[in-house]
Amino acid sequence: MRPRMSQVIDPSLDLFAEIDRLRTQRKALVLAHYYQDPDIQDIADHLGDSLDLAKRARDAKDAEVILFCGVHFMAETAKIVNPKKIVVIPDLDAGCSLADACPADQLRAWKQTHQDHYVVMYINCTAATKAESDIICTSSNAEQIIRSVPAGRPILFGPDKNLGAFLIKKTGRAMDLWPGTCMVHETFSATKIATLKAKHKDAKFIAHPECEDHVLQLADFVGSTSKLLEFVQRDAGTKYIVGTEMGILHTMHKAAPHKELIAVPYEDRTAACQGCNQCPHMKLNTLEKIYLALRDLRPRIEMPEPLRLRALLPLERMLAIS
Ligand code: 13P
Ligand code: SF4
Repeated sequence: MRPRMSQVIDPSLDLFAEIDRLRTQRKALVLAHYYQDPDIQDIADHLGDSLDLAKRARDAKDAEVILFCGVHFMAETAKIVNPKKIVVIPDLDAGCSLADACPADQLRAWKQTHQDHYVVMYINCTAATKAESDIICTSSNAEQIIRSVPAGRPILFGPDKNLGAFLIKKTGRAMDLWPGTCMVHETFSATKIATLKAKHKDAKFIAHPECEDHVLQLADFVGSTSKLLEFVQRDAGTKYIVGTEMGILHTMHKAAPHKELIAVPYEDRTAACQGCNQCPHMKLNTLEKIYLALRDLRPRIEMPEPLRLRALLPLERMLAIS
């Protein structure tokens, strides 16, 4: 368990005003992922998917601080691509089941048994795992990244086996897959989605590629969070069943207020499941913790420079082609 700071906050504080005051004082750039709570999305300087946010972090010139409202691997990526900035995250415990699934030592062992393979890792992994990879991809550029690997070179892909299986279908490339999954997307129920589709015949089902294959087979469109958002805006339809973390519905509603959005139904696979279309890691971030992070400039993302440099290389290869 990591050490925690005192979280006692004066309840009379206007958190929105305080966050605004502190972000100016700290010269902070506030980046937020679409899976954050609506209030957090609304205060962000930039809202985006993993790729957009990595680029925003890299290109942050005037800011002295990057406050990353997302999960740990995203904030870590911001630090890797822009090491001179102070990078803070509201809650250091905001992890990711995919990042947990493939620790660097296990990837090293996998590589040992596949020495001629090119290692493509989804950005949802730790800096240490990135450092073991040849190239990184995100859900919005994964197909392009796989197509960039020289034909005939065998590929190891991880940690998301669902995204990997989707890419095998899309590109026809054979790949060995690491058996990781997103704990949110893997709970979506194909049976319930099929029932919902039958009830709403005018609705299109749109899904994130972290979903399982039998769920993706029902989809009218598959894409990263940004691509799902763009699809809802440009598509001629008026009703969508949205197969990803429900935080994105907030921005979709704002971007396309005349369209009807239905959150994807999930299967209660565990007794602990409260609302499985919400990421419990993303939802650890709150306005209170954002206020504290800006006030105290903690918790910070730090890493040894040799590790950062090794993790940067596969990220730079990705950024050069997307
Ligand atoms: P994108 O942001 O690339 O759509 O991926 C979603 C995700 O896994 C965030 O945790
Ligand atoms: Fe990780 Fe899934 Fe949460 Fe994204 S939604 S941070 S992939 S657990």
